[in-house]
Amino acid sequence: FQTPLLIPPVMPRAGTITVPGGKPVDSYEISMRQFTQQVLPAGYPATTVWGYGAVTSAGKKGLLLHNAPSLTIEAKWDRPVRVKWINDLVDANGNALPHLLPVDPTLHWANPPGGTEGRDERPHFETTPGRYTGPVPIVTHVHGSVGVGDESDGYAEAWYLPAAKDLPAGYATEGTWYEFFAAKAAAAHGVEWGPGFATFQYPNSQRASTLWYHDHTLGMTRLNVYAGPAGFFLVRGGPDGDDAVRDARTGARAVLPGPAPKEGDRIPPNKTYYEIPIAVQDRSFNPDGSLFYPDSREFFDGIVADYLPDGEFSPIWNPEFFGETIIANGNTWPFQVVEQRRYRFRFLNGCQSRFLILDFSGIPGVRAWQIGNEGGFLAAPVDLAAYGDRLLLAPAERADLVVDFAAVPLGDHVLGNVGPDAPFGGGEPGVAFTMADPATTGQILAFRVVPAVGPDPTTPPEHLALPQIMPLPAESVVRPLALVERSAEGEDDEGEELEGPTSAVLGTLEDGVWTEREWADEVTENPAQGATEVWEFVNTTADAHPMHVHEVAFEVVGREGLVLDGDEVAVPVQPDGVVTPPEPWETGRKDTVIAYPGQVTRVRARFDRAGQYVWHCHIVEHEDNEMMRPYRIGPVQP
Ligand code: C2O
Ligand code: CU
Repeated sequence: FQTPLLIPPVMPRAGTITVPGGKPVDSYEISMRQFTQQVLPAGYPATTVWGYGAVTSAGKKGLLLHNAPSLTIEAKWDRPVRVKWINDLVDANGNALPHLLPVDPTLHWANPPGGTEGRDERPHFETTPGRYTGPVPIVTHVHGSVGVGDESDGYAEAWYLPAAKDLPAGYATEGTWYEFFAAKAAAAHGVEWGPGFATFQYPNSQRASTLWYHDHTLGMTRLNVYAGPAGFFLVRGGPDGDDAVRDARTGARAVLPGPAPKEGDRIPPNKTYYEIPIAVQDRSFNPDGSLFYPDSREFFDGIVADYLPDGEFSPIWNPEFFGETIIANGNTWPFQVVEQRRYRFRFLNGCQSRFLILDFSGIPGVRAWQIGNEGGFLAAPVDLAAYGDRLLLAPAERADLVVDFAAVPLGDHVLGNVGPDAPFGGGEPGVAFTMADPATTGQILAFRVVPAVGPDPTTPPEHLALPQIMPLPAESVVRPLALVERSAEGEDDEGEELEGPTSAVLGTLEDGVWTEREWADEVTENPAQGATEVWEFVNTTADAHPMHVHEVAFEVVGREGLVLDGDEVAVPVQPDGVVTPPEPWETGRKDTVIAYPGQVTRVRARFDRAGQYVWHCHIVEHEDNEMMRPYRIGPVQP
């Protein structure tokens, strides 16, 4: 706890565009670059990372600000944001930089040379067999953006390479969907794409909420995100924003802890923020300070497999990854000075595979309430005291909290993590899984408590009346979907047959029997435009999976057990009649939901905007290996 928590500054806008007869549009130019940053405490080597930063001519010409986590995009409700996302992963001479981490060319991945032909396409640019050292494809997704056109959603096959000087002729510089979406974006918003960039537009007409943006490239999201690029995207205002929160005692507008960073604030700030976003991630490091990510399956389970052109068994990819350190806003185990008063923290679990259980119980006298999740405010504040001052957060989930330090003794107090250093099975901490190590991953950050400098003007959370949430209409379709374990075959380096888990994969379910579906298979989920559907995530695997659906904000309907046959889910799959309602922190709207093993988890969504999107598990290692599927709203694309 040596480094002060970095509070990400606000991304400067490039300008505001006036659209004749339309709403003004806030515009940004954001490039992804490679740079070094002190991620480990002072005295340790710096780390080479990637991050998104602003290219702006406002104020200082060509000002570039890059940081990991990346700067926060502050969006206003119902005011579109347009971003030119630039792939600037080039060196000082303009030549393409290689990836910082070991790419696995045996997965179904972006694979620039051959487009997206899949497993049979062999990588180019190899220095050693199976090692891709070519330019880096990227494409950005704003996670939780609702009603965005598919051209702006960051489709996994709409990736693009940097406009580097040294790209060989004939090299595929874009994913198979890039051109199609480029034409669509030109028609819809009059914007240009490429080379080396795409311009997306977000409507922001959804409930005020905590979104985040990160890379979404096919088969390498886990690596691109691990290298650093991720940031917050906050939608504020409108009928579900802070101004709509009342003090239940008086009916007057409630006061939430603030301010948060604003565009144009001095960096570092010369004022105190009481509203702070905190991205929690896990990373491992090499002794030289560089990021460590396994480059062999051996790391995961000791299996040394051969690189087989037709093998299903990847010798490189790891089914999950758990880092040895926790980083909060880009530093390992930072501290945040807090006064004895209330703060608002927007937590994001930005880990690869790790489910966090934030644990406030080690902070004497602290009070914590959850007031929001991914889709904005909850139906009512949830006093975490009723849950042992703990909060479960799966990868990609967010929690908007009010934390009161008024009664906390002065000095350092640690926010703990009692989640597992292993896949999450939904069992009791300490019983069903390996607990985080209390000395390392069991700690997130320290709060350094100091006396308050003035009275606390904020409304006590127990008196907050949060904005009303309109229920979605009744569904016209119930769509059963399967999460199943698949084992793959291959050979080890002595030619012996191997069998082992790949990832869980996705599938469709008919009469309780599933059919596995891969990324490259035909679209099977095709809601009509405007339809409301219930999606049932039937989890027959042994682990919990955080399921995320692009484009919509859903209601969690609830969960139901599945009939078991011994330890396994019985086939044909049958619900067992034991129904549980959503948890209090799952009310309102969400975009990511935990599908527990041996259960069906149901969500209800309305699919309003036609287009081609994706749904997937947000354990990014799973997402990258067949735990993602395309889905389509409305008619087939021309
Ligand atoms: Cu956070 Cu499809 O992603
Ligand atoms: Cu998963």
